[in-house]
Amino acid sequence: MVLTTTSIRESEESLHCTFASRYVQEPLPKFKIPKKSMPKEAAFQIVNDELMLDGNPRLNLASFVSTWMEPECDKLIMASINKNYVDMDEYPVTTELQNRCVNMLAHLFHAPVGDDETAVGVGTVGSSEAIMLAGLAFKRKWQAKRKAEGKPFDKPNIVTGANVQVCWEKFARYFEVELKEVKLKEGYYVMDPAKAVEMVDENTICVAAILGSTLTGEFEDVKLLNELLTKKNKETGWDTPIHVDAASGGFIAPFLWPDLEWDFRLPLVKSINVSGHKYGLVYAGVGWVIWRSKEDLPDELVFHINYLGSDQPTFTLNFSKGSYQIIAQYYQLIRLGFEVITEITLNTTLCFFKSEQQLPGLYYLI
Ligand SMILES: Cc1ncc(COP(=O)(O)O)c(C=O)c1O
Repeated sequence: MVLTTTSIRESEESLHCTFASRYVQEPLPKFKIPKKSMPKEAAFQIVNDELMLDGNPRLNLASFVSTWMEPECDKLIMASINKNYVDMDEYPVTTELQNRCVNMLAHLFHAPVGDDETAVGVGTVGSSEAIMLAGLAFKRKWQAKRKAEGKPFDKPNIVTGANVQVCWEKFARYFEVELKEVKLKEGYYVMDPAKAVEMVDENTICVAAILGSTLTGEFEDVKLLNELLTKKNKETGWDTPIHVDAASGGFIAPFLWPDLEWDFRLPLVKSINVSGHKYGLVYAGVGWVIWRSKEDLPDELVFHINYLGSDQPTFTLNFSKGSYQIIAQYYQLIRLGFEVITEITLNTTLCFFKSEQQLPGLYYLI
């Protein structure tokens, strides 16, 4: 092993790097900034050697995140690695590429965008941020409606399956929304739409369905959910909407099952998130959230920054972030096109089937 760690006291632990010792003699404190600088070669050697103990990303199938891109795209990434996305006046072309991606995805998900209209959506760090933003939009819309009706608006809830990814629990805890989970049962590991609709009440800000459950890859039946919820909305006078967490399935279903109705073709689906860094084939750090229309994103959540001169509307949790992920996403979409994305998707989804035993419309990613 190249690196050894000497533990004197926890706070005084230091690194001894064998190969870097041609440049440096002193051990490197582990938890304190070293007093002196060191040659760049030594810094590289030390960090590089320690990183050898990490796994090999190309062998990492956890979290379904892309670990390889073409060298041409790597070149674009290196050329834009120092661009701060939020400086939109400095990097208007990057902003434009983001807008193009948003529109491409909105069309892919059948958003009702007229020829002379632009789609409503934003690039995020991943599906987690996208879900926080979508959830906030639902919470604000619900609160505004309740306030206007003179009804209490302090106990919002969201209905999901118990199979939701942890980001939904984060959303619920961070933004003070009760998470009402439909229990799973032996042999049935996704949200049952009928049970979900039963759990909806006047405080439900939305029902979140998953297209590609993290546990099994199974698609939830969004079409049936839309039907049942439409019926309940009619009976009660509520207008509970649906969000689709298509973190994985958003880049699968449109290519493998274009006729499967899970997206904005269903009237109650008001927003959809997808991870660009999963089956969108980009390295970690990009997700997307698309709204059905302007009306579904409350104005009060959009901030207008004029940091560098012109007015730039933003709706993100962070201010500064990298640009390369957006550029890489645009590269993948135009480079591969519908045809090759479909081929890659077929190859990467090891097997898929429609189960006759389950509710109709259940599809699987893996
Ligand atoms: C269904 C689902 N939603 C959300 C997420 C979170 O996505 P991200 O890692 O892009 O934040 C995941 C990640 O595995 C997921 O599977």
